Amino acid sequence: MARIILKNISKAYKDGVKAVKNIDLTINDNEFLVLVGPSGCGKSTTLRMIAGLEDISEGSIQIDDRVINDVPAKDRDIAMVFQNYALYPHMTVLENMSFGLRLRKYPLEEIRKRVHEAAEILNIKHLLERRPGQLSGGERQRVAVGRAIVRKPKVFLFDEPLSNLDAKMRVQMRTEIHKLRLRLQTTFVYVTHDQTEAMTLGDRIAVMKDGIVQQCADPMTIYDHPVNKFVAGFIGFPPINLMTGRLLRRSGKIFFDEGRFQVKLVDRMYPAVTAYEGKEVILGVRAEDIYDKLLVSESSADSTVTVICEVVEPLGSEVYLYLNTGRHSFIARVAAHNRPEVNREMSLVFDMNKVHFFDPTTEQTII
Ligand SMILES: Nc1ncnc2c1ncn2[C@@H]1O[C@H](COP(=O)(O)OP(=O)(O)OP(=O)(O)O)[C@@H](O)[C@H]1O
Ligand SMILES: [Mg+2]
Repeated sequence: MARIILKNISKAYKDGVKAVKNIDLTINDNEFLVLVGPSGCGKSTTLRMIAGLEDISEGSIQIDDRVINDVPAKDRDIAMVFQNYALYPHMTVLENMSFGLRLRKYPLEEIRKRVHEAAEILNIKHLLERRPGQLSGGERQRVAVGRAIVRKPKVFLFDEPLSNLDAKMRVQMRTEIHKLRLRLQTTFVYVTHDQTEAMTLGDRIAVMKDGIVQQCADPMTIYDHPVNKFVAGFIGFPPINLMTGRLLRRSGKIFFDEGRFQVKLVDRMYPAVTAYEGKEVILGVRAEDIYDKLLVSESSADSTVTVICEVVEPLGSEVYLYLNTGRHSFIARVAAHNRPEVNREMSLVFDMNKVHFFDPTTEQTII
């Protein structure tokens, strides 16, 4: 059992940098929570406060019913895996993995059992006698995870554990971490700046910016209902297309006027946008919500845009089209057979049920 409760925690470093601002977050027992955000947004600081490696300036952290603000790191029953793995170079894998248990004076037989169990899970039994210098990046990463597992902690903290690996290894280790999680059934807090890792691993994702949690929810809620322009742009690849324009009413219908094209809003959005009639808004549309005109029925006239196709990027399974309206560049992701001619006009259809609108001043989601 380990529920972590962050109550209004803030962190100001000595030089006045306010790295974390008033975070309120409850991480449930057995939950895999991902903290995601750009460099410098306060992810590691938050994790280090949970681990006890950094003082908390304001607020409190609880594990279950116990406030741990003043509990030393070693007594928190938490294990952390660092980005650089922090393995001891002069020790073998076996010694690295057993170090924490030896320090805590566990019986030798228990240590042996736990190390072999962990080595089995992580498929590193054949590496136990090697030193970190004789391992690949992925193997080192496994050892670092192994060292955390043997302690059987209540909580696992991971700080960008995959960022030193090449792209292929990263994908492979991502799956391994997923399996590990299913097997260990403990509480995980996982820090990354990679939105794909966040989407694929997290039960919930907390998106951070400038020391503030912008939104915390399950991956599909974050993807489909971002609370603001930042979250919409950070989660999803390629990033959501954003275009500035004006809302106008014509014969009882509301349109988004980009300057070069107009698209009609779906009726259900009207109540939310009436306050913005005649005003500037930002439209957000994801690359996969833009369709090839030929595949859509005639009734889509009010959501068709005519643009210049500047670059065609076939990826095998799909094609990215780099498009230009004359005022905005954007990307569409269409089916593999599409090969439009470059530098010619083409017509595409926006899925107006899927678009978002943002307030240009507050950047909050209108709908
Ligand atoms: N020891 C420190 N002293 C002063 N400022 C610090 C210290 N550690 C971090 N900071 C500052 O606090 C802010 C948050 O840093 P943090 O390391 O938590 O970011 P992060 O989200 O983990 O970024 P990254 O993705 O680059 O690891 C940054 O502005 C950073 O410069
Ligand atoms: Mg960091």
